Amino acid sequence: MEDKIVTVSTRPNLALVKYWGKRRKGEECEDPFLNLPQNSSLSITLESGKDLLTKTSVVFSGKLSKDEFYLDGKKQDLEDKELQERFLAIKKLRELAGVNTKALVVSYNTFPTASGLASSASGLAALTFAASKALGLDIGSERLSEITRIGSGSACRSLFGGFVVWDRGRKPDGSDSIAWQLFNEDYWHEITILICITTPKKKKISSRLGMKNTVESSEFFKLRPKIAEAHLKQITEAIKKKDFSAMGRIIMKDAMNMHSTMLDTMPPIIYLNDISKEIIYAIEDLNESEKRIVGAYTFDAGPNACIICMKSDKAKILSKINEIKGIERIIEAKVGSGPKLLSESESLIDIKNLTPLQNKK
Ligand code: PMV
Repeated sequence: MEDKIVTVSTRPNLALVKYWGKRRKGEECEDPFLNLPQNSSLSITLESGKDLLTKTSVVFSGKLSKDEFYLDGKKQDLEDKELQERFLAIKKLRELAGVNTKALVVSYNTFPTASGLASSASGLAALTFAASKALGLDIGSERLSEITRIGSGSACRSLFGGFVVWDRGRKPDGSDSIAWQLFNEDYWHEITILICITTPKKKKISSRLGMKNTVESSEFFKLRPKIAEAHLKQITEAIKKKDFSAMGRIIMKDAMNMHSTMLDTMPPIIYLNDISKEIIYAIEDLNESEKRIVGAYTFDAGPNACIICMKSDKAKILSKINEIKGIERIIEAKVGSGPKLLSESESLIDIKNLTPLQNKK
């Protein structure tokens, strides 16, 4: 087979009903590496021009003696345990294609890595999307989501644009724990997302370890799967009716419910910082004074706030938020599209030498 470079771009996603906690062996789960979630979740894919993008090139070649991975210009150590777990998805794809050739992967993110902004989601989605195409695998996005989930749980939702559901599924082999699109990116144009960066620093505890500790030690977490499933039903109805108030209430409730299980973890996990709290109070204040839900805040495994609002209310939110000191940057995003296959001219790999192309993003 001739070496074929495939280059793709993908986007992160923001969960409106969160995933936090994997099923353990025996809990409808035959292998914890499958990343099977305790509850279903729902996200929107984020699009912000040239910001918030992962661009990845993949080539499988008989000339390579081992897998190589470059992220943001730096060669990564594939002996690293966490990276090896993420690369299990590539192993699965190789098995499906019936090949054993090694891969060169070159990837860039245009947003702060590991700051709770889910760069791992778009990164892993880019990796499996590009790798499946490079291997000539003709599998649909839902089937690919099953494999992408092994690399990073939330990544399976970045294989689609618009509003995306990741169904927890019931089968121990994970074959029904897949993501699918509820509505595409054109469904609700009036929605906008303001991402408030309160620190670009790497988070203190990875979501992988954090989730493990929460599942093992939080009493509150025992209630979480049932609550999240109820939130999923309610938010799906709200989105179907384009009822922003109902959707906004669930977004805030669900984020805080997840963070309360983190706080109840031993040792406690505290991702929010003082500025995150200021943002919560500011939005609560605005909603209270307007007697409606003007904005809805949510936080992942980090202190950066994402505020979801209608475009017509953006100015109101911004003037409120601008009173808060310490927000480093605000990125505006819309509900965006899924992965894109890019042309050969956008490749990040020098095919002759099988090395990353310098100065190319
Ligand atoms: O799949 P991970 O390890 O990126 O975990 C994602 C966890 C949250 O971002 C906090 C919630 C979510 O559903 O995206």
